[in-house]
Amino acid sequence: MGQLTTAEKEAMKEEAGIAACSFVKSGMKIGIGTGSTVKYTILELGRRIREEGLQISGIPTSKSTEELSIEQGIPMINWEKCDHLDLVIDGADEFDPDLHLIKGGGGALLREKIVAESSGAMIVVADASKKVDTLGNFPLPIEVNPYGWEQTKRRIEQLCPGSVNRRGANYLTDNGNPILDAEFGPTISNPVQLEAKLRSISGVVEVGLFTNTADVVVMAAKDGCELIRKENARI
Ligand code: A5P
Repeated sequence: MGQLTTAEKEAMKEEAGIAACSFVKSGMKIGIGTGSTVKYTILELGRRIREEGLQISGIPTSKSTEELSIEQGIPMINWEKCDHLDLVIDGADEFDPDLHLIKGGGGALLREKIVAESSGAMIVVADASKKVDTLGNFPLPIEVNPYGWEQTKRRIEQLCPGSVNRRGANYLTDNGNPILDAEFGPTISNPVQLEAKLRSISGVVEVGLFTNTADVVVMAAKDGCELIRKENARI
């Protein structure tokens, strides 16, 4: 993609974040993702609520998203009274040609997966730097239970060709769990199998591989926005 300035990168995130809002219609219940790209989706939804009377409600995937959504006037709902969302809009750290994703760079992977699996469709907002042939250059985030995390880490190391590092000595997710970042390198050619193997390790709470979950990627590049649709996209 060549060298981009910080301002150009930010403009691309904004473009993707806003473009994804075209999928949102009045009456929808939506999942609201986490990250610096989806931030622009939240701002645009807030604008449409104020200026166009858009009527939606949402479930946030993190405390930071909840705060910004409330600030923007998006009505929040919770799982007590909601068992299905129409769609979720979320970011990604990498996506491959089958639209399998690595997520969790912002630490919200567990809530993001619960929300994605409860949604009728998933729209990913990303800039072109997130597109890869094979997943894994971005260290794979794995949320683990605090009990015995060191041993869980050793078991993950048996599957990972590179190092596995705890994210910050004191870093905990919104759920109170540590994150291990596993350096697979661009070797994840079978993300479905790897996700299953990692999830079978006791102590692993959730894996940042989102396989067969995304329907559309709204990808912003320097010369405009592109919609990348999965063959059997639900939307
Ligand atoms: C949050 O945990 C992540 O899954 C984010 O969605 C992902 O890191 C993308 O974030 P950016 O849009 O900030 O790159």
